[in-house]
Amino acid sequence: MKEHFDNLLREATAELADATTLHEAETVKFKYLGRKGRIADLFKLLPTVAADERPEIGQLLNNLRAELESLVETKLALLKPAKSHAVVDVTLPGRKPFEGTYHPLTLVLREVVDIFRSMGFRVAEGPEIELVHYNFDMLNTPPWHPSRDETDTIYLPNGFVVRTETSPVQIRVMESQKPPVRIISPGRVYRRDRPDATHSPMFHQVEGLYVDEGVTMADLKGTLLAFYRRLFGEHTQIRLRPHFFPFTEPSAEVDVTCFFCEGKGCRVCKQAGWLEMGGSGMVDPNVLAGVGYDIEKYTGYAFGLGIDRIAMLRFGLDNIRLLVDNDLRFLRQFAAV
Ligand code: DAH
Repeated sequence: MKEHFDNLLREATAELADATTLHEAETVKFKYLGRKGRIADLFKLLPTVAADERPEIGQLLNNLRAELESLVETKLALLKPAKSHAVVDVTLPGRKPFEGTYHPLTLVLREVVDIFRSMGFRVAEGPEIELVHYNFDMLNTPPWHPSRDETDTIYLPNGFVVRTETSPVQIRVMESQKPPVRIISPGRVYRRDRPDATHSPMFHQVEGLYVDEGVTMADLKGTLLAFYRRLFGEHTQIRLRPHFFPFTEPSAEVDVTCFFCEGKGCRVCKQAGWLEMGGSGMVDPNVLAGVGYDIEKYTGYAFGLGIDRIAMLRFGLDNIRLLVDNDLRFLRQFAAV
C-alpha cells in the first residue's frame, strides 16, 4: 500500500513538472485532488482495509493528500500571471501636497481691514444672532419701516433676529465707550432674498463708524475716497447719491467709478460708469442720543459697504454663488496659504 502511495506521488509530481500552462496544472490537480480524483478513490477504499491497519493507512493517505496539495499550489502559483509591477521612477520629483488657499472673501476682507487700520480704525465684532433692539430700535428704524418686514428679515424667538446688517455693532460699541470712536466691523448678514446671480440670503458687509467733535460729511467723503483709491486704484472717483437710511441724516449711497472702464461705461457697470458699493451718512442725532452721547458736542459719520460685491469685481466673478459653493476647483485658484 505504502508503495502504491509513493508511486502515485511520483506520477503526480512528474505530471506537474510537465505542466507548462495553468490549464495543464489545473488538470493535474483535478485528476488527483478532485472530488472524484485518485485520492478520493483511495479514501473510498479505506473501509475495506482491515480494521487494525486502518488508522495507519488513513494517516498515510492524509499525508499524501497534504503533500500533493502543497505541490499543486506551488505549481499553480508559479504559473499564475504575475501581477504587473508598476514601474517606479524614483527620480521623479514628489507631488506637492495641497496646502489650501485663502477664500477670495478672506483676501478682500484682509485688504479692506488693512486699509482702514492704516487710517486709524479699530476692528470691532458683533453677534450674528442679534436683538431686535439693536438691529432696528436703537438704529432709529421706525416701526413701519419695510426692512422690519418678515419678508425681508429672519426673526427668531424671544426678540432676536439674524442680523440684517452690520450696523447694530455701532450701537454696541457706542454703548461701551465714549467718543472718539473709530471702528470698522466686518461680518456676515442675512436677508430673505431670493438667491440669484447677485443676491444671496447671506452676504458680507463692513460697517464703519467715526464719532468725535467736529466730524463732517467732508470727512466721510475723504475717507471713502481714500479707501476706494487704495482698493481700486488712484484714478477712482466716488459719488455720494442722496438716499434715506433711518440711522443717518443726511444719508447717501456710495458709488465708485467703474474700474474696468474708468467711468466710460462697459458690461460690468451696465454702461453706467458707476458701481454701487453701499450706504453712508451722518449718524442721526437720535442714534447718538440713544446711546447717551452729547449731541451738542459730537457728530459722526457711518457707512456700510458690501464685501461680496468687491470680491466679485476684483476677481471677475459673474455669480455670487461661487463665494458660498466651496467648489475646490474654484477655490484652488486663489493665493496659497
Ligand atoms: N445698513 C445699511 C444696509 O445694510 C448700510 C448702511 C447705510 C450702513 C448707511 C451705514 C450707513 O452705517 O450709515 O443697507
